[in-house]
Amino acid sequence: MNQDDIQRFTELREQFPILSRTSPAGQPLIYLDSAATALKPQCVVDAVSDMLMNKTANIHRSVHFLSDEATEAYETTRDIVASFINAESNEIVFLRNTTEALNLLAFAYRDRGRVLTSWAEHHSNMLPWGEDAFRLEVDSQGNILLDALEQELERKDVALISLSQASNVTGNCVNLKQVIALAHSYGVPVAVDAAQAAPHTPIDVHDLDCDFLAFSGHKLGAPTGVGVLFGKADLLESMDLYLKGGSTIEEVNFDGYQVKNAPWKFEAGTPAIECVVGLRAAITFLLGVGMDSVHEHFMDLSAHTAAEIAAKLPADCVMGGLPEGKKGPFSITYKGISPHAIARGLSDRYGICIRSGFHCAQPLHLKMSVPASLRISFWLYNTREEITKTVDGIAELAAVVNR
Ligand code: ALA
Repeated sequence: MNQDDIQRFTELREQFPILSRTSPAGQPLIYLDSAATALKPQCVVDAVSDMLMNKTANIHRSVHFLSDEATEAYETTRDIVASFINAESNEIVFLRNTTEALNLLAFAYRDRGRVLTSWAEHHSNMLPWGEDAFRLEVDSQGNILLDALEQELERKDVALISLSQASNVTGNCVNLKQVIALAHSYGVPVAVDAAQAAPHTPIDVHDLDCDFLAFSGHKLGAPTGVGVLFGKADLLESMDLYLKGGSTIEEVNFDGYQVKNAPWKFEAGTPAIECVVGLRAAITFLLGVGMDSVHEHFMDLSAHTAAEIAAKLPADCVMGGLPEGKKGPFSITYKGISPHAIARGLSDRYGICIRSGFHCAQPLHLKMSVPASLRISFWLYNTREEITKTVDGIAELAAVVNR
């Protein structure tokens, strides 16, 4: 990245009001926990507050002007989300988050055959599939071993494959295009958990040719409480309702009911209208910055973090190592030192917020024989200087704990 690009991203920080606050000890806030949830830009705060103050109404129900305005705000978000991932509007379902999207898929596919996933997944892409789901092997870079995958597909009983696009622990990206091409040659659909990838990777569902893709708004700068499930239109239509109730039906009488078409049939009850409008603002903001630029900035911070860690922390402390082109997040493990102690110290001494623990991926930690880890996860508002301070803080605190 050149100096102008760096300056542009530094200026973007002004649009995140929380970055002007300090920690309880008076330190400037350094937020490196964006894989858990991203900070929100002012435009999102304004959009949500405008809905709450000026446009409160339920959608798809009443015929008054306030309801028209709320419905339009909600439905135009569907169009913007569709353009964000190169889908059609009727392929976008609003749900609470990625977890709910994957549970909806698990419900729809529960009786259709075996589900394949991998052991490197987030809990949300493991637990919904049940004990019988088969866990594919991955290599040290997170790629699915294609021979092993083909052996499973040969059994001709696979209903669905569900994999994360990028790990929220190692940052490893799965060889999705190869997996999808192979799966499709056996007529098997593929679902992608893009919760970790969507905030910094341009996504094109047509190019990827995935059948489903899920992500959460709150990791993109939107409020918590709204997530997206993309599904190819014919597949969405073939799926059963997950939640039944208002908004999911065309007509009800004492003998039964007629279900709406997708995507509306999956949006039961009054949805998170303000959050959806906040998602529209967040995505509009991201499109304004440009996802290619966001990705470039993300890679610049990844390279800087890798260099800082290599220079200042023990060799081999990063889960998945530091291969060429390593992408964040960076999960660090120290023998004999609790990551929680370091995370607490970073917060109390330096106003640095990072996550410690399993990051909702305990089996991945077990497989790598890591008790728990300390994760640095950045996004578009972070700077190289913040990462340098954080790595210095980790080295200093580890030395104190080790003494
Ligand atoms: N899945 C989120 C994380 O990685 C919460 O922290």
